[in-house]
Amino acid sequence: MSKSRIVIGVQWGDEGKGKIVDLLSENADVVARFQGGANAGHTIVTGGKKSVLHVIPSGIFRPRTTCVIGNGVVLDPFAFQDELDMLSKGGVNYAGRIKVSAATNLLLWYHKELDGLREARRGASSIGTTKRGIGPCYQDKADRMLAIRVADLVDYRNGFSRLWLKLEANMANKSHELASLPSEDQIDWEQLFQRLVRVRDLFAKMMTDVSLLLANARRDGRIILFEGAQGGLLDVDLGTYPFCTSSNTTSGGALTGLGIGPGMVDEVTGVVKAYTTRVGGGPFPTEQMNGIGERLRKRGEEFGATTGRPRRCGWLDLVLLKYACRISGVNSLAITKIDVLDGLEEILVCNEYELDGHRISEVPVDMSRLADCQPVYERLPGWKGQKTKEVTTLSALPRNAQGYINNICLRLGVKPLVVSTGPDRDHTIMVNQD
Ligand code: IMP
Repeated sequence: MSKSRIVIGVQWGDEGKGKIVDLLSENADVVARFQGGANAGHTIVTGGKKSVLHVIPSGIFRPRTTCVIGNGVVLDPFAFQDELDMLSKGGVNYAGRIKVSAATNLLLWYHKELDGLREARRGASSIGTTKRGIGPCYQDKADRMLAIRVADLVDYRNGFSRLWLKLEANMANKSHELASLPSEDQIDWEQLFQRLVRVRDLFAKMMTDVSLLLANARRDGRIILFEGAQGGLLDVDLGTYPFCTSSNTTSGGALTGLGIGPGMVDEVTGVVKAYTTRVGGGPFPTEQMNGIGERLRKRGEEFGATTGRPRRCGWLDLVLLKYACRISGVNSLAITKIDVLDGLEEILVCNEYELDGHRISEVPVDMSRLADCQPVYERLPGWKGQKTKEVTTLSALPRNAQGYINNICLRLGVKPLVVSTGPDRDHTIMVNQD
């Protein structure tokens, strides 16, 4: 278990990464977030107490863990401050334990407003974003002239002139588009500047050369956990484009989002929910818009941790999972929420698609054709009358549940590391790999 590893979702997010990162960070000295922003919602339950983190790495609940926010993250400084307040109120001492890259991009109020305006303009073809400003913030980053980085905020020389010039550039670039907002939502740039100046000292304390910190940690034999947000199928390059997020959610994102080389990573753990969910638009071949979908939503409490939106639910899709594991080089699996399948007579899994009259067992070369793929299912026996809920050893699982897990691992060619049987830390099976 003492390995530096990347932990990523291999579906469309909401796989239960928060709990898995929290568990695997038990021995970790450092937990590092490398992409995304407050679109993520990582739920951690300890001793029956539930906490949701949006930007701070899930390792924060381990008192000796250093938490790192990388350059690949888009960070809302005020949401970050709120999250710190929530931690303080909950008795979590984070002093000196949170480090932020100087190159992390700030996600500000106008990004959120632009996200909302652009989604509204897309009408029926909207992406279904979380409206947390993620797309507009990454757009500014790619533009190169507009992004405001943590280093810009921390530089107080000449009365914060660097920060003000950046805000002015954004004002010139965005005012026209923002003019369509109602008057009460109009931005007061001077006020935003003042608010940013007020959080400067907080960031000055945390600003760090993250790449160097991680390299030194590795040199000193420390264990690092790289925490992904969203899931591989939402990757901006390799996911179900354009119905995806704007960052690299695959394992490659950990390297560019933190400034590390592949030699820093011993293992890539893919988190997979025992069925499939998705929020927002986009193709979902195994979606169940029927009683099964309803049952999964209800029993799995499938409502977004960030937006509260009901999630679309369906059977496990091994064609997509095989793809997601390949593009991230996944070599161990954490299977979550198996208990949600308790009570089912029969469980379906998709091993192939039918497309244009042909059977295919890989995703179409043109990913947009996923929308035309019909799933071909294998019917597996459920374990009705028995339960996986809160079971803590593999051998105590019902035989058919063991078969279900083996089938997933065999089809994906990846070994199991963790099986999660309930929301609490204790509702977990750690699979002995050696
Ligand atoms: P954005 O990241 O807010 O731009 O949203 C783009 C797409 O990614 C939408 O379909 C969102 O529902 C989805 N998405 C973003 N973050 C998450 C997440 O943490 N879990 C699940 N879906 C997400």
